[in-house]
Amino acid sequence: MTSNIETVLFAEQEIACRVRELGQQISRDYDGLRPALVCVLQGAVVFAADLMRAISVPFTVDFMAVSSYGEGTASSGVVRIIKDLDESVQGRHVIVVEDIVDSGRTLEYLLRVLRQRNPESLKVCALLDKPECRVVEVAADYVGFHAPDAFLVGYGLDYAQEYRGLPYLGALKPRQ
Ligand code: PRP
Repeated sequence: MTSNIETVLFAEQEIACRVRELGQQISRDYDGLRPALVCVLQGAVVFAADLMRAISVPFTVDFMAVSSYGEGTASSGVVRIIKDLDESVQGRHVIVVEDIVDSGRTLEYLLRVLRQRNPESLKVCALLDKPECRVVEVAADYVGFHAPDAFLVGYGLDYAQEYRGLPYLGALKPRQ
């Protein structure tokens, strides 16, 4: 275990198992609909890569990058688009794939932006949810795990761009 990690919260196998279940659930719900997955860079990329391989119905995937966090562990509250989608989502069954919903600001902003583009439907699949940390009211339709109020890293999640490659999700030690 990396020395800055206090505890492993979700182990590699546990994540793999839950991601497979989410993929199966989405495959059942979207049978015949060819959903448009919208992966939110950078954090969701590891989750999206595994989720895609667990979905058995045809789908498309596109990427969007937004940023609300700087180098620290607290949200600045300011959301902006850094990279927009390449394809239109008008008339599509959109599933936003996020790694974590924390204050909800990022997701609320994304959903507002995407809703204006007239998708046929708009849902959210988030690996982690911290409902106790919500500042704005927003909910994910598919949730992998209910996460505790700790700063999580690994499996795509970073601290100052580090730790994204850890195969598990861990809580970072409080800063000394
Ligand atoms: C993280 C995460 C979510 C957002 C959740 O993104 O990927 O998009 O924060 O927090 P919120 O619910 O409080 O808005 P971040 O801005 O850290 O960028 P990253 O995905 O590149 O790590």
